[in-house]
Amino acid sequence: MQLKNDLILRAARGERTERTPVWLMRQAGRILPEYRAVRSKVSGFIELVETPELAAEVTIQPVDILGVDAAIIFSDILVIPQAMGCPYQMLESKGPWFENTVRSEQELAKLRIADPEEDLGFVLEAIRLTKRGLYGRVPLIGFAGAPWTIFAYMTEGSGSKTFSVARKMLYTNPDFSHRLLRMITESTIRYLQAQVNAGADMVQIFDSWAGILSPEQYREFALPYIQQICQSIVDVPVTVFAKGAFFARADMADLACETIGLDWNMDIAESRELIGEGKTLQGNMDPCLLYADSATIRKETERMLEAFGPVRHIANLGHGLYPDTNPDSVKVFIETVQEFQHDR
Ligand code: CP3
Repeated sequence: MQLKNDLILRAARGERTERTPVWLMRQAGRILPEYRAVRSKVSGFIELVETPELAAEVTIQPVDILGVDAAIIFSDILVIPQAMGCPYQMLESKGPWFENTVRSEQELAKLRIADPEEDLGFVLEAIRLTKRGLYGRVPLIGFAGAPWTIFAYMTEGSGSKTFSVARKMLYTNPDFSHRLLRMITESTIRYLQAQVNAGADMVQIFDSWAGILSPEQYREFALPYIQQICQSIVDVPVTVFAKGAFFARADMADLACETIGLDWNMDIAESRELIGEGKTLQGNMDPCLLYADSATIRKETERMLEAFGPVRHIANLGHGLYPDTNPDSVKVFIETVQEFQHDR
């Protein structure tokens, strides 16, 4: 079906657009009362993710309620460990938790490469239902975690401030680390390709824990695997968002992706200089701006838009929305982007 609003796809490809497109990481979620209503009907987050009709419903909510220029499929990066044989739970107010970690040869031997049709059919079905429900209004973004971030959760077994178990593994058993990273990469390539076949119009790779590696480690254990994924997804634009990887921005210019996501610690002009003109940049407002009054939100958002300029920019936050953000403040951010006229 022909898309009525394809601004984000054109911006990703570097084409001129009438205005800057905007969406927000974690736009579907606890900030919306409508999401909480659907969520309260099921046992928890995981049941919501695994029920395609409901996942599609909450995916479309921010398009209806906030007016964003793209939907992102409601799921989680942790469905990949689950599909590889390492299931997770989402503990209330504690976050992700894995019963079994992957730290030994025996544990590694029990894992399999994910088969998306077999193991992740619920996500693919949610994508098909969302595409039908969106009826071409806006593009649908698919996603997966980057191999390093997934490796960090699988070895650590939960969230962590330091991920010291995961980082220790890179030093004490680099060979084991590479083998696990290769399995995650292969699973992720198959998964993202299946998302595209099911209807995803672009895909984003989230490397949420990029910023805790040294530049050398990022070059050895993260970037080559991200590059393999980028090179395998050829039919739709790919975005790489590596939170905290300010040290890798110049290297990221060589990735076979269209868009690089910036977090709010990254200076916009400096990022453009390091990454060059060949990529679209996405971001990068501090999600905490949305706790400020409307005038401040407008002023800071306009400043961000000026700094990125009229081409090769997709407006977003520098990380996901915090759950206690007021949806009205989110709307001020979105409307400011959509009404902004660049001097051309
Ligand atoms: O709107 C969207 O962005 C799409 C949905 C989405 C979710 N998770 C839903 C979710 C996306 C893209 C993700 C990605 C994700 N999941 C990342 C990468 C992005 C990032 O934030 O860095 C990571 C690291 C995860 C792992 C994860 N999932 C954590 C650490 C948590 C707990 C944190 C929290 O807010 O409680 C989750 C849970 C999660 N994933 C929620 C949502 C809406 C909240 C759970 C709930 O509704 O109870």
